[in-house]
Amino acid sequence: MKIEPSQRLQTLQTQYFAGLESHIAELKATGKQVIRLDIGSPDLPPAQPILDALWKSAQLPNGHGYQPHRGSQELLSAWATMYRRCYQVDLDSSHEIIPLLGSKEGIFHITQAFVNPGDVVLIPNPGYLTYESAALFAGGKIYYMPLLKENDYLPDLSAIPAETAQRAKLMWINYPNNPTAAEASQDFFQQAVNFARDYHIILCHDAAYSQVTYDGYRSPSLLQADRATENCIEFNTLSKSHNMAGWRVGAAVGNHTLLNHLYTLKTQLDSSHFKPILDAAVIAMTSDQDWLLERNFIYQKRRDIILRSLYSIGLYPQIPKASLYVWSPIPPNWTSETFCQKLLEDVQVSLTPGTVFGSYGEGYVRICVCAEEGIIREALQRITDWMVRQ
Ligand SMILES: Cc1ncc(COP(=O)(O)O)c(C=O)c1O
Repeated sequence: MKIEPSQRLQTLQTQYFAGLESHIAELKATGKQVIRLDIGSPDLPPAQPILDALWKSAQLPNGHGYQPHRGSQELLSAWATMYRRCYQVDLDSSHEIIPLLGSKEGIFHITQAFVNPGDVVLIPNPGYLTYESAALFAGGKIYYMPLLKENDYLPDLSAIPAETAQRAKLMWINYPNNPTAAEASQDFFQQAVNFARDYHIILCHDAAYSQVTYDGYRSPSLLQADRATENCIEFNTLSKSHNMAGWRVGAAVGNHTLLNHLYTLKTQLDSSHFKPILDAAVIAMTSDQDWLLERNFIYQKRRDIILRSLYSIGLYPQIPKASLYVWSPIPPNWTSETFCQKLLEDVQVSLTPGTVFGSYGEGYVRICVCAEEGIIREALQRITDWMVRQ
């Protein structure tokens, strides 16, 4: 019996990293020592007080049932505290924050909550994969906004045709950016807010990397822009900021009417978190944050090892001030995909081809800093030796 999946599902394929995982598992099964610098999954643990809070809460007999759909009041207040501390943004914790099971979930669902078949969704290219898959699943029409080096990897808003902008329902921006590691100024955020308001577009900002910053750089929030709460939603997460990717703790913050629609959808889909995760997330956001500076410094040192090695083989990426990535050009005569495939086959180093994130990623690879220094050195040495043989 052949049963077809829904037409909506047929717009999607298994996500790139899910496929890569299986391929790497096969390589490992044959005894190959694969080094993964592809996916942005923090390799370091969260701070001890967060783990202690999880354990302590798990011992309580009454914390194993369903939790309120909006999470606990303490969690909402903790997000508000973090927004005040990091961005000087005041959020009304009862209306302007919806907890998410990781920001990926919210990114996917906000699109389902608003996009009708045929509505235009403005998406950066290259960009985080879920913006595109969510739009396809909703039957949206995608307009790709190229992120080009000559524009500092910011979308050129003036290049979006007016008739496209008029048909657009949702627009995505993401800074610090994945995969290009570019950052955006408050000025750019203000322009994007104004543009979206002029065209009645919901502006969604994905701030997943906003607390992974280097060299003293601080990343702004979109909600710092004037009148941003009229039509904007920002997605945030503890995945990268607090080394808690597996915990699935995120939030959507911003315009409360828009968030209410997301909430309606989510009440039909999920039932909040396990209480110990809620309790530990509160500690993550409200306890001493100094460890994040130390953690960022560890990433910064790894970033520098990667940069030095790339320079030594004649590749000159920009120096990222934030995110978990180095966005590196590749040598001539390769495509991003063949370069990564061959590296994986020949020396078992896994990088992400730029084209995974869209056509404008051609000519680049994304290299992640989420591995110990020794492992990163080994990976870059393998790449360097391999390059000499080409
Ligand atoms: C740009 C961006 N947004 C969102 C996410 C999703 O993060 P999470 O679902 O873990 O919060 C990621 C994860 O890699 C990302 O790179």
